[in-house]
Amino acid sequence: MIKLVVDNKEIEIEEGNNVLQACLDNDIYIPNLCYLKEMDNPPGSCRLCFVEIEGYSQPVTSCTEKVKEEMVVTTNTEHVRRLQRTAFELLLSVHHVDCRNCPANKKCELQRISKFLHFGLKTKRIEQLERDVKQEQDHPLLEYDPYRCVLCGKCVFVCQQKNGQPLLSLAKRGLDTVISFFGEEDMVRDRCKNCSACVEICPVSALLIKNKPD
Ligand code: SF4
Ligand code: SF4
Ligand code: FES
Repeated sequence: MIKLVVDNKEIEIEEGNNVLQACLDNDIYIPNLCYLKEMDNPPGSCRLCFVEIEGYSQPVTSCTEKVKEEMVVTTNTEHVRRLQRTAFELLLSVHHVDCRNCPANKKCELQRISKFLHFGLKTKRIEQLERDVKQEQDHPLLEYDPYRCVLCGKCVFVCQQKNGQPLLSLAKRGLDTVISFFGEEDMVRDRCKNCSACVEICPVSALLIKNKPD
Protein backbone atom coordinates (compact mmCIF):
# COMPACT_ATOMS: atom_id res chain seq x y z
CA MET A 1 0.00 0.00 0.00
CA ILE A 2 1.04 3.59 -0.68
CA LYS A 3 0.52 6.23 2.00
CA LEU A 4 -0.04 9.82 1.00
CA VAL A 5 -1.37 12.98 2.61
CA VAL A 6 -4.34 14.77 1.05
CA ASP A 7 -5.65 17.99 2.57
CA ASN A 8 -3.71 17.17 5.77
CA LYS A 9 -5.30 13.72 6.04
CA GLU A 10 -3.28 10.52 5.68
CA ILE A 11 -4.82 8.07 3.22
CA GLU A 12 -3.79 4.73 1.72
CA ILE A 13 -4.27 3.10 -1.65
CA GLU A 14 -2.71 0.26 -3.59
CA GLU A 15 0.33 1.07 -5.70
CA GLY A 16 -0.41 1.82 -9.36
CA ASN A 17 -3.49 3.92 -8.66
CA ASN A 18 -3.77 7.58 -9.53
CA VAL A 19 -4.33 10.51 -7.16
CA LEU A 20 -7.95 11.04 -8.26
CA GLN A 21 -8.88 7.44 -7.47
CA ALA A 22 -7.07 7.63 -4.13
CA CYS A 23 -9.10 10.70 -3.19
CA LEU A 24 -12.44 9.35 -4.41
CA ASP A 25 -11.89 6.06 -2.56
CA ASN A 26 -11.27 8.06 0.63
CA ASP A 27 -14.34 10.29 0.34
CA ILE A 28 -12.41 13.32 -0.91
CA TYR A 29 -14.36 14.61 -3.89
CA ILE A 30 -12.53 16.16 -6.83
CA PRO A 31 -14.64 17.27 -9.82
CA ASN A 32 -14.15 14.89 -12.75
CA LEU A 33 -15.97 14.01 -15.96
CA CYS A 34 -13.73 12.05 -18.31
CA TYR A 35 -12.30 9.46 -15.91
CA LEU A 36 -13.32 5.88 -15.15
CA LYS A 37 -11.56 3.57 -12.72
CA GLU A 38 -11.11 0.93 -15.42
CA MET A 39 -9.03 3.24 -17.64
CA ASP A 40 -5.32 2.35 -17.78
CA ASN A 41 -4.51 5.62 -19.50
CA PRO A 42 -7.09 8.27 -18.61
CA PRO A 43 -7.40 10.85 -21.40
CA GLY A 44 -7.16 13.82 -19.00
CA SER A 45 -9.37 15.82 -21.32
CA CYS A 46 -11.99 17.53 -19.15
CA ARG A 47 -9.33 19.44 -17.14
CA LEU A 48 -11.51 19.47 -14.03
CA CYS A 49 -9.55 17.29 -11.64
CA PHE A 50 -6.64 19.60 -10.87
CA VAL A 51 -4.77 19.34 -7.56
CA GLU A 52 -1.53 20.78 -6.22
CA ILE A 53 1.27 18.39 -5.27
CA GLU A 54 4.16 19.43 -3.04
CA GLY A 55 7.33 19.87 -5.09
CA TYR A 56 5.47 20.49 -8.37
CA SER A 57 5.58 24.01 -9.83
CA GLN A 58 2.04 23.88 -11.30
CA PRO A 59 -1.24 22.12 -10.48
CA VAL A 60 -1.67 18.79 -12.29
CA THR A 61 -4.66 16.68 -13.34
CA SER A 62 -5.06 14.11 -10.58
CA CYS A 63 -6.40 11.38 -12.90
CA THR A 64 -3.12 11.24 -14.80
CA GLU A 65 -0.83 11.36 -11.77
CA LYS A 66 0.18 8.07 -10.14
CA VAL A 67 0.35 7.99 -6.34
CA LYS A 68 3.79 7.97 -4.74
CA GLU A 69 4.85 7.23 -1.18
CA GLU A 70 4.66 10.33 1.07
CA MET A 71 3.13 12.49 -1.65
CA VAL A 72 1.50 15.63 -0.23
CA VAL A 73 -1.58 16.74 -2.15
CA THR A 74 -3.90 19.73 -1.75
CA THR A 75 -7.22 19.71 -3.54
CA ASN A 76 -8.70 23.08 -2.59
CA THR A 77 -6.29 25.96 -3.26
CA GLU A 78 -7.34 29.18 -5.00
CA HIS A 79 -5.22 28.26 -8.04
CA VAL A 80 -6.89 24.84 -8.32
CA ARG A 81 -10.38 26.34 -8.06
CA ARG A 82 -9.56 28.98 -10.68
CA LEU A 83 -8.43 26.31 -13.16
CA GLN A 84 -11.46 24.13 -12.42
CA ARG A 85 -13.89 27.01 -12.89
CA THR A 86 -12.24 27.97 -16.19
CA ALA A 87 -12.52 24.39 -17.47
CA PHE A 88 -16.13 24.20 -16.31
CA GLU A 89 -17.01 27.48 -17.97
CA LEU A 90 -15.57 26.28 -21.28
CA LEU A 91 -17.58 23.10 -21.00
CA LEU A 92 -20.78 25.03 -20.35
CA SER A 93 -20.19 27.16 -23.42
CA VAL A 94 -20.99 24.09 -25.58
CA HIS A 95 -23.73 22.67 -23.37
CA HIS A 96 -27.34 23.77 -23.64
CA VAL A 97 -28.55 24.00 -20.06
CA ASP A 98 -32.23 23.13 -19.77
CA CYS A 99 -32.41 21.16 -16.53
CA ARG A 100 -36.16 21.27 -16.15
CA ASN A 101 -36.67 19.34 -19.41
CA CYS A 102 -33.62 17.13 -19.10
CA PRO A 103 -33.70 13.41 -18.20
CA ALA A 104 -30.48 13.89 -16.21
CA ASN A 105 -32.03 16.45 -13.87
CA LYS A 106 -31.11 15.75 -10.22
CA LYS A 107 -28.64 12.99 -11.11
CA CYS A 108 -26.51 15.10 -13.41
CA GLU A 109 -22.77 15.37 -12.92
CA LEU A 110 -22.74 18.99 -14.14
CA GLN A 111 -25.21 19.95 -11.43
CA ARG A 112 -22.98 18.29 -8.83
CA ILE A 113 -19.86 20.07 -10.11
CA SER A 114 -21.72 23.40 -10.33
CA LYS A 115 -22.74 23.11 -6.71
CA PHE A 116 -19.29 22.04 -5.59
CA LEU A 117 -17.49 24.87 -7.42
CA HIS A 118 -20.18 27.47 -6.59
CA PHE A 119 -20.36 28.18 -10.30
CA GLY A 120 -23.88 28.62 -11.65
CA LEU A 121 -24.99 26.63 -14.68
CA LYS A 122 -26.75 29.64 -16.15
CA THR A 123 -24.11 32.29 -15.47
CA LYS A 124 -24.71 35.24 -17.81
CA ARG A 125 -21.06 35.63 -18.78
CA ILE A 126 -21.06 32.22 -20.48
CA GLU A 127 -21.42 32.74 -24.19
CA GLN A 128 -22.80 29.79 -26.18
CA LEU A 129 -20.37 28.87 -28.96
CA GLU A 130 -21.58 28.00 -32.44
CA ARG A 131 -20.93 24.38 -33.40
CA ASP A 132 -21.43 22.22 -36.47
CA VAL A 133 -22.87 19.07 -34.93
CA LYS A 134 -24.23 17.29 -38.01
CA GLN A 135 -23.78 13.53 -37.85
CA GLU A 136 -23.13 11.11 -40.67
CA GLN A 137 -25.37 8.36 -39.41
CA ASP A 138 -28.38 8.01 -37.10
CA HIS A 139 -28.44 5.14 -34.65
CA PRO A 140 -31.34 2.67 -34.94
CA LEU A 141 -31.76 2.32 -31.16
CA LEU A 142 -30.11 5.32 -29.58
CA GLU A 143 -30.99 8.96 -29.43
CA TYR A 144 -28.06 11.37 -29.13
CA ASP A 145 -28.23 15.02 -28.16
CA PRO A 146 -25.00 16.75 -29.25
CA TYR A 147 -25.98 19.94 -27.42
CA ARG A 148 -26.15 18.05 -24.15
CA CYS A 149 -23.03 15.94 -24.74
CA VAL A 150 -19.98 17.18 -22.84
CA LEU A 151 -17.55 15.08 -24.91
CA CYS A 152 -16.23 13.15 -21.95
CA GLY A 153 -15.61 10.04 -24.10
CA LYS A 154 -16.87 7.60 -21.45
CA CYS A 155 -19.45 6.08 -23.81
CA VAL A 156 -16.74 5.21 -26.34
CA PHE A 157 -14.60 3.64 -23.62
CA VAL A 158 -17.35 1.43 -22.19
CA CYS A 159 -18.53 0.39 -25.65
CA GLN A 160 -15.03 -0.75 -26.50
CA GLN A 161 -14.78 -2.60 -23.18
CA LYS A 162 -18.06 -4.40 -23.63
CA ASN A 163 -18.03 -5.05 -27.36
CA GLY A 164 -14.33 -5.42 -28.11
CA GLN A 165 -14.50 -2.93 -30.91
CA PRO A 166 -16.43 0.29 -30.25
CA LEU A 167 -19.55 0.99 -32.29
CA LEU A 168 -19.29 4.68 -31.58
CA SER A 169 -16.45 7.16 -31.61
CA LEU A 170 -15.59 10.81 -31.11
CA ALA A 171 -15.74 12.32 -34.60
CA LYS A 172 -14.68 15.70 -36.02
CA ARG A 173 -12.49 18.12 -34.09
CA GLY A 174 -12.43 20.78 -31.44
CA LEU A 175 -15.80 22.26 -30.53
CA ASP A 176 -17.44 20.48 -33.48
CA THR A 177 -16.62 17.07 -31.99
CA VAL A 178 -19.65 14.77 -31.78
CA ILE A 179 -20.31 11.13 -31.03
CA SER A 180 -20.54 9.23 -34.26
CA PHE A 181 -22.14 5.83 -34.83
CA PHE A 182 -20.96 3.35 -37.40
CA GLY A 183 -21.53 -0.14 -38.68
CA GLU A 184 -24.21 -1.85 -40.74
CA GLU A 185 -27.64 -1.27 -39.26
CA ASP A 186 -28.38 -4.97 -38.66
CA MET A 187 -25.06 -5.56 -36.95
CA VAL A 188 -25.45 -2.45 -34.78
CA ARG A 189 -29.02 -3.40 -33.87
CA ASP A 190 -27.89 -6.86 -32.93
CA ARG A 191 -24.92 -5.81 -30.82
CA CYS A 192 -26.62 -2.89 -29.09
CA LYS A 193 -29.84 -4.73 -28.32
CA ASN A 194 -28.71 -6.17 -25.01
CA CYS A 195 -26.20 -3.52 -24.13
CA SER A 196 -26.90 -0.07 -22.83
CA ALA A 197 -23.47 0.54 -21.36
CA CYS A 198 -23.09 3.91 -23.10
CA VAL A 199 -26.51 5.12 -21.97
CA GLU A 200 -25.82 4.10 -18.39
CA ILE A 201 -22.39 5.72 -18.19
CA CYS A 202 -23.30 9.07 -19.77
CA PRO A 203 -23.07 11.71 -17.01
CA VAL A 204 -25.59 14.05 -18.66
CA SER A 205 -28.09 11.72 -20.42
CA ALA A 206 -26.93 12.81 -23.86
CA LEU A 207 -27.51 9.21 -24.98
CA LEU A 208 -30.90 7.60 -24.45
CA ILE A 209 -32.67 4.50 -25.70
CA LYS A 210 -34.80 5.49 -28.70
CA ASN A 211 -36.92 2.39 -29.10
CA LYS A 212 -37.15 -0.54 -26.79
CA PRO A 213 -35.37 -3.48 -28.49
CA ASP A 214 -37.82 -6.20 -29.59
S1 SF4 B 1 -27.34 17.71 -18.44
FE1 SF4 B 1 -27.48 18.48 -16.34
S2 SF4 B 1 -26.97 20.66 -16.46
FE2 SF4 B 1 -27.46 19.94 -18.50
S3 SF4 B 1 -29.59 20.38 -18.80
FE3 SF4 B 1 -29.45 18.27 -18.08
S4 SF4 B 1 -29.65 18.40 -15.85
FE4 SF4 B 1 -29.17 20.47 -16.59
S1 SF4 C 1 -22.63 11.02 -25.09
FE1 SF4 C 1 -22.43 11.22 -22.85
S2 SF4 C 1 -20.84 9.70 -22.32
FE2 SF4 C 1 -20.68 10.10 -24.51
S3 SF4 C 1 -19.15 11.72 -24.74
FE3 SF4 C 1 -21.19 12.69 -24.67
S4 SF4 C 1 -21.47 13.19 -22.51
FE4 SF4 C 1 -19.83 11.70 -22.58
S1 FES D 1 -11.07 13.59 -14.81
FE1 FES D 1 -9.03 14.23 -14.92
S2 FES D 1 -8.99 15.46 -16.71
FE2 FES D 1 -11.03 14.70 -16.65
